[in-house]
Amino acid sequence: MRRRVRPGGGRQIDVSVAELGARGDGVAKTGEGLVFVPLSAPGDFLRLRVTGEKKGGALLGEILEILEEGPDRIDPPCPHFGPCGGCQVQHLQADFYHRWKQLLVGTHLSRQGLDPAVVRPLVQIAPGCRRRAVFAARRRGRRLQLGFHEARSHNLVDLTTCLLVTPTLLNLLEPLRAVLALWLPEGGEAEATLVDTETGLDLLVETDVAPDLETREALADFAETRDLARLSWRLRGGLSEPLALRRLPVLSFGRAQVTPPPGAFLQPSREGEAALIDLVRSAIPDSALRVADLYAGLGTFAFALADRARILAYEGDAEALAALDTAARQPSLQGRVAGERRDLGRQPLRSEELNVFDAIVFDPPRAGAPAQVAHISASDVPTVVAVSCNPASFARDARLLVDGGYRLEQITPVDQFPWSSHLELVAVFLR
Ligand SMILES: C[S@@+](CC[C@H](N)C(=O)[O-])C[C@H]1O[C@@H](n2cnc3c(N)ncnc32)[C@H](O)[C@@H]1O
Repeated sequence: MRRRVRPGGGRQIDVSVAELGARGDGVAKTGEGLVFVPLSAPGDFLRLRVTGEKKGGALLGEILEILEEGPDRIDPPCPHFGPCGGCQVQHLQADFYHRWKQLLVGTHLSRQGLDPAVVRPLVQIAPGCRRRAVFAARRRGRRLQLGFHEARSHNLVDLTTCLLVTPTLLNLLEPLRAVLALWLPEGGEAEATLVDTETGLDLLVETDVAPDLETREALADFAETRDLARLSWRLRGGLSEPLALRRLPVLSFGRAQVTPPPGAFLQPSREGEAALIDLVRSAIPDSALRVADLYAGLGTFAFALADRARILAYEGDAEALAALDTAARQPSLQGRVAGERRDLGRQPLRSEELNVFDAIVFDPPRAGAPAQVAHISASDVPTVVAVSCNPASFARDARLLVDGGYRLEQITPVDQFPWSSHLELVAVFLR
């Protein structure tokens, strides 16, 4: 089948795609070296326009025409797939896609000289479960664009649908578009963080345009009509201000009910979070009575472990820690969780401080935790569980732990970000 994808100028070449790279681009091997081609599939024979060069000299190409489709190419289910930066790999058979995700962690382990044999089967999380999403908005004339950015661009894809998010989030897009159209002036921009909590939607709008009295009234009406739990706004980088608080947003972790601060980090789907919690719980032996939860956020893992251990939760963000602390005081927790604010990059827990624990869970941001991991690798703590959303930085951290004498026992990849090149994982280290 010949299908025209996008017209364009520039130097044209015809290539065969050999494999799918770690970021979801097809990779063609040519006489001029590697060419990375977004939205392509292995086995595709393509006419390309060369659009640039990557670091290291490989070329970047844009599909002009699919001359022959690879065997694993399918029609993507979402009408926005292609331009929308929310998904990179909807155009692949499910089996092929899962095999590719399964192998991603091993690729990064091998680069660090670690054995990929420890990688267990992928835990699959279906699309349509994402309960937290950040949408960008921009006013262009009469149209209020609301959606995700295009890949490698500041352009916005104005979404009519999204197959990643929960129906509750999806149903709010159109009314949110209408109310933001009242708020934002021509050229005005905003970012809307939506979280589907147990007591209703929690919406934070971040923008440089302060709402006037009329807009505030419209926003309060919007919160009422759409039955939001809470609606807040903040100037970019400033403090949030509630515009409507109809119920406290609530998230349950173990026996704790946590009210997240507006815009707080949260595992993107409840299903993904449950899978991570199961893996963390099964990695920590019942004999571990004192556990450190590093990069604890709202206490996702700390509260989930509190039925069998005392947990000290370390977190750098003051608002997240305050939410964790408040929940930790609930009588059902019996004082088993305590929080401490600490910047683990600048002031990592030293090995002497870590040695009082029977187990450590750490779940750092995408960049990983080299400073903290250096101290963990010098500690005597028998069980260390790493949760990571970035296999590349995880593999670097894993190398440090293995160099410090830990055995990497197992890694379970969890596909929390379906149709993207992102991957979550839980890894167990013992000594
Ligand atoms: C990937 S999130 C994990 C949160 C939590 N474990 C969860 O599952 O919801 C990483 C957390 O690390 C925190 N963080 C980032 N940099 C930090 C630092 N230098 N010191 C301490 N915490 C940090 C963030 O605020 C965020 O809560």
